[in-house]
Amino acid sequence: MGIKVSEFGKTSKGSEAHLYTVVNSRGMAMEVSDYGATLVSIIVPDAKGRMDDVLLGYGDVQDYEKGTCYFGACIGRNGNRVKNAQAVIGGKVYQMEKNEGENSLHSGSEGYSGIIWDAEADPKENSVRFHHTGADGEQGLPGTFDVTVTYTLTDENEIRIHYEGISDKDTIANMTNHGYYNLAGHASGNVENHVLWLDASAFTPVGEGMIPTGEILDVEGTPMDFRVAKKIGRDIGADYEQLKIAGGYDHNYVLPESNGSIRRIAQVTEETCGRTMEVLTDAPGVQFYAGNFVESRPIGKEGVVYGKRSGLCLETQGFPDAGHHEAFPTTVLKAGDKYDTTTIYRFGVLSE
Ligand code: BGC
Repeated sequence: MGIKVSEFGKTSKGSEAHLYTVVNSRGMAMEVSDYGATLVSIIVPDAKGRMDDVLLGYGDVQDYEKGTCYFGACIGRNGNRVKNAQAVIGGKVYQMEKNEGENSLHSGSEGYSGIIWDAEADPKENSVRFHHTGADGEQGLPGTFDVTVTYTLTDENEIRIHYEGISDKDTIANMTNHGYYNLAGHASGNVENHVLWLDASAFTPVGEGMIPTGEILDVEGTPMDFRVAKKIGRDIGADYEQLKIAGGYDHNYVLPESNGSIRRIAQVTEETCGRTMEVLTDAPGVQFYAGNFVESRPIGKEGVVYGKRSGLCLETQGFPDAGHHEAFPTTVLKAGDKYDTTTIYRFGVLSE
């Protein structure tokens, strides 16, 4: 048990970054950094009790600055893409940064994955709390946004990520964590043999620039269906337009109604080592991204070279580009309302 703080290098602008190492009573460890409120490592046992790091990442803060994959990053105020980088709030358009062609991805270069957060370790709760006050106009969005992200490592081998925020003007709040998982160990290569169960009977297809078309499509009879667990690699190369457009799975899945409560929405299993990961959340959607564009520039932690599909993401979220689609639940946070959402990654092993 306990929390250790160590140095994590200096950013290119000279700010010092820190690493918080949190350990639970069962020996599981999680590391988080105040740079980007980033999840840096997750060390968990496999079915034989062997420990390994199951999260892709870098060795120091400057590599995180250079990286383009958002390894373990906290994304905000708005995750995923916005068409023409135009956020719509109450009928008004707010111009965000165009950082992916004409569109915005993960809130642009002022996004929360690239800032130093105020950090507070709470050894009693086995938590690290990150706080940021986003200025009115930050990322092109209105409102002073007071935001806290808390990472807790429980004795049930869960990582709980709790997002809380409040704004003095209507704004967008749609945050996520961009962890890339490889349950066989971050250095073990391709995740196509991981088995995924996903509790979603529909997804939001995309068109040009990976922007949602606005449709909500049933997964029935398509390679997108993970309601019966299957290997990620089984259908990833299928002759199916959505998989071709995205280069594999990279889609927002529509989750069952949550009514504000946290429910279990996914399970990932790696059969050779026996590790499992369940995902629980109150969010309406999840981006299942199979790491189709992962690359090691720079080289990963421990000198590991990552490649295509070395890790998979299950980014819990509001629907992408929600402001442009009536049928999608809103991601607008009203002035004075509380933004409050939780996602849990729970680690276990297959029983014999
Ligand atoms: C997106 C991918 C993108 C990745 C890294 C994911 O959230 O869905 O399309 O390549 O982030 O930016």
